[in-house]
Amino acid sequence: MKLLFIADIVGQPGRRAVKELIPRLRRQHGIDLVVANGENAAGGSGITPGTAEEIFSAGIDVMTCGDHLWDQKEVTELLENETRFVRPLNYPPGTPGQGSTIFRREGLSPVAIINLQGRTFMPPLENPFHCVLAEVERLRRITRLILVDFHAEATSEKVALARMLDGKVSAGVGTHTHVQTADEQIFPGGTAFLCDAGFTGPHESVIGREIEPIIRRFMTNQPQKFDVAKGRVLLQGVLIEIDEQTGRTISINRISELLAVEAVSGGA
Ligand SMILES: [Fe+2]
Ligand SMILES: [Fe+2]
Repeated sequence: MKLLFIADIVGQPGRRAVKELIPRLRRQHGIDLVVANGENAAGGSGITPGTAEEIFSAGIDVMTCGDHLWDQKEVTELLENETRFVRPLNYPPGTPGQGSTIFRREGLSPVAIINLQGRTFMPPLENPFHCVLAEVERLRRITRLILVDFHAEATSEKVALARMLDGKVSAGVGTHTHVQTADEQIFPGGTAFLCDAGFTGPHESVIGREIEPIIRRFMTNQPQKFDVAKGRVLLQGVLIEIDEQTGRTISINRISELLAVEAVSGGA
């Protein structure tokens, strides 16, 4: 089973990259399932039903989220009605939406997708370590193919969580920092890991936003408007091949594909 995970889709450039590159990547690699983090899909902040639909129609099967979950009011519609949309599992009981979903397609074993949020340098949600163990135990009664998108800032928190889940899930992939790491590996128990998958959007930027306002913010400590940047659009993520019988990962490869030609001039 081949699964493509796409890192945080940032704004219109990110959505364009998905639209233009996913159909080819699906064919080229024989991908069975595409999961994407959509927390920055709407103008860089949050997600709306409209942007979600745009992304789903580009060939994404399941979408995860993160700390930008609440940036757009209309997200409640997705949380309440969209079965392909997953928010971090470790919100308090009673939060709308779902922390995991099971993807089913004929001819393919069911695949569970869990979204989690870290707590180090981030808002204090429930303990993701405890939440995920209970959820994985529940899901493993249904399938051994489990992907975790751990949306977290601290590398240690991400590595520790994935190590704890070694042998229990097929893959643990980190998101949120928007910087792709080079530590892809398969742990002894068969769990694939990448500390951060990067982001899908304009890389002539500071993690997706125009450079100058961010520098000004650091220089002056005053709030600035952070527009989504334009130049050098990359689709980033990770391609994972999983043994359908055992749920163990066979291979993991990082992806960083340049969106050609349309790259808006003057981005630099
Ligand atoms: Fe985030
Ligand atoms: Fe993000």
